[in-house]
Amino acid sequence: MTPDSLDLWDSQMRREIRAEVRKALANLGQEAAPPEGEGPVVELEDVCLSYGEHTVLDGVSLALQRGETLSVLGGSGAGKSTILRLILGLSLPDSGEVRVEGKDISHVPLTQVLALRRNMGMVFQEAALFDSLTVYDNVGFYLHEHTHLSEGEIEFRVRESLGLVDLEPEQVMGLLPAELSGGMKKRVGIARAVVHRPRLLLYDEPTSGLDPITTRTINDLILKLQGEIEVSSIVVTHDIRSAFRTSNRVALLFEGSLVFVGSPEEMVATEDEYVREFLR
Ligand SMILES: Nc1ncnc2c1ncn2[C@@H]1O[C@H](COP(=O)(O)OP(=O)(O)OP(=O)(O)O)[C@@H](O)[C@H]1O
Ligand SMILES: [Mg+2]
Repeated sequence: MTPDSLDLWDSQMRREIRAEVRKALANLGQEAAPPEGEGPVVELEDVCLSYGEHTVLDGVSLALQRGETLSVLGGSGAGKSTILRLILGLSLPDSGEVRVEGKDISHVPLTQVLALRRNMGMVFQEAALFDSLTVYDNVGFYLHEHTHLSEGEIEFRVRESLGLVDLEPEQVMGLLPAELSGGMKKRVGIARAVVHRPRLLLYDEPTSGLDPITTRTINDLILKLQGEIEVSSIVVTHDIRSAFRTSNRVALLFEGSLVFVGSPEEMVATEDEYVREFLR
């Protein structure tokens, strides 16, 4: 072969390999999501995780019951987002187990992790919308990427999700994220997270950076979604008031451990020194 034909052969091979990989990835995403189970939706059991010398989680155990909203409170860098990453299977624990719908996600094949993720919706810290996509394309992103729904069906669901978060579809669908207020961005982020009707919703700081009135409307929205789409939720936040307003139970993370898990009423009544300090 001449160098030229080698090049040609090489690029042809690469094209074929890329097509194979694309096909494999498409099939990978198609494993059926597991049916709704009976026990806790999420369980962390004695989870430890360190980055080098830095221990982030040191024996964390926690269970999210079906239909409940649980807030994880903690200061900056406490490991709150890390807990969400573990549940999504984006990080793996050094030891201990993270079970979603009863399945230990460190020990199931990637296809099952992806199938489990199909039942989850994630509301990212700072909303994390795609800047160059309209509200319609942001909210419809998951359906465009991961389903074979027709455009008409996608539009129906995008409108429905925007309605759920109290946005008027006609007014917002064509806007870019830069044209939205902070509160609207959060709403669009939530609409994007619920568009595929997940059973588990993960919120990362849903009210950070919002004024008190907008914070209240987002809290009310979290409460409304719990009832209307019957979702189980974990809300990661450093905002005690939001946690108390939205959640059936709250957990407090401090130096890698959960120093409290219980109802808001129990938290207020506790004698624990650190919890009392945190509440102050
Ligand atoms: N990929 C990584 N590599 C190294 N350290 C990391 C990594 N991800 C997180 N950390 C560290 O782990 C700790 C916990 O991070 P995490 O993002 O979970 O905190 P957080 O409670 O969500 O904080 P914040 O309230 O600021 O969002 C932090 O000290 C962070 O610097
Ligand atoms: Mg965080």
